[in-house]
Amino acid sequence: MGIKIMPSLLSADFANLESEMTAVSSADGIHVDVMDYRFVPNLTLGLPVVESVRKATDKLLDIHLMIAEPDRWAPAYAEAGAESVTFHIEASDAPVKLARELRAQGARAGMALRPATPIEPYADLIGELDLILIMTVEPGFGGQKFLDLTLPKLRRARELVDATGADIWLEVDGGIAADTIARCAEAGADTFVAGSAVFGADDPDAMVRALRAEAGG
Ligand code: DX5
Ligand code: ZN
Repeated sequence: MGIKIMPSLLSADFANLESEMTAVSSADGIHVDVMDYRFVPNLTLGLPVVESVRKATDKLLDIHLMIAEPDRWAPAYAEAGAESVTFHIEASDAPVKLARELRAQGARAGMALRPATPIEPYADLIGELDLILIMTVEPGFGGQKFLDLTLPKLRRARELVDATGADIWLEVDGGIAADTIARCAEAGADTFVAGSAVFGADDPDAMVRALRAEAGG
C-alpha cells in the first residue's frame, strides 16, 4: 500500500454513518476520532459506535484515540476489529506494553504526537509501532488550520521510520486538504486523514481521488 487516504468521520453526518462511509468508496480506510472530554476538550463517540461501524463497513478502520488512560481503554478497540489503533504518547503510561497488546490483538499499533511533542525521545520505540501519527493541528476539532511548523518533525519521523526498514505508516491529521497535502507528502507522509475537506465537499469521493492525486498516489 502506497498513498493512503483516510476520510475522518468527525466531519460526517453522525446520524448516517453507514451511507457516509459508502459515499467515499475510493478511500483506503475510515478514520474514527474517539474523544473523551479529558485528553481533549471535546466529546465524540466510543466503543459501542466503533463496534457498529465495524459491522457496517469492510473498509480498514483507523482508530485515533484522543483519550486519557489509553493503556486501559485502547486494547478493546483492537479487539473490536479495528485494523489500526493509535494512542497519544502524551497520555500513555506504558507505551511499549500497550503497543505489544495492540499487536497481540492483531491491530497495527499507532503512536500519535501533538504538534508540540518532539519525536526524538521516542526514537527507540519506533520498532514497536506500525503507525506514527504526526498531528498537524492541536487535536480536538475538525476544520482547523494546518500548522506548517509540524513539517520538520514529519521529515525527522520519515528518517527514523526509514532507518528501521519496517512497514510503518507515517500519518498526518488536521487541516489536510488539496492545498496542504502535497507539502506533507513531500515531507514524508504516506497516510493522510482528511475530515472537513472530504465530507464538506460537494462530491466526497471525487475529493478523495483529488487528494490522492495531489499526494502523488
Ligand atoms: C482532530 C481529529 C481529526 C479531524 C481532522 O483532532 O483528529 O481527525 O477530523 O479534521 P480536518 O481534516 O477537518 O482538519
Ligand atoms: Zn484524528
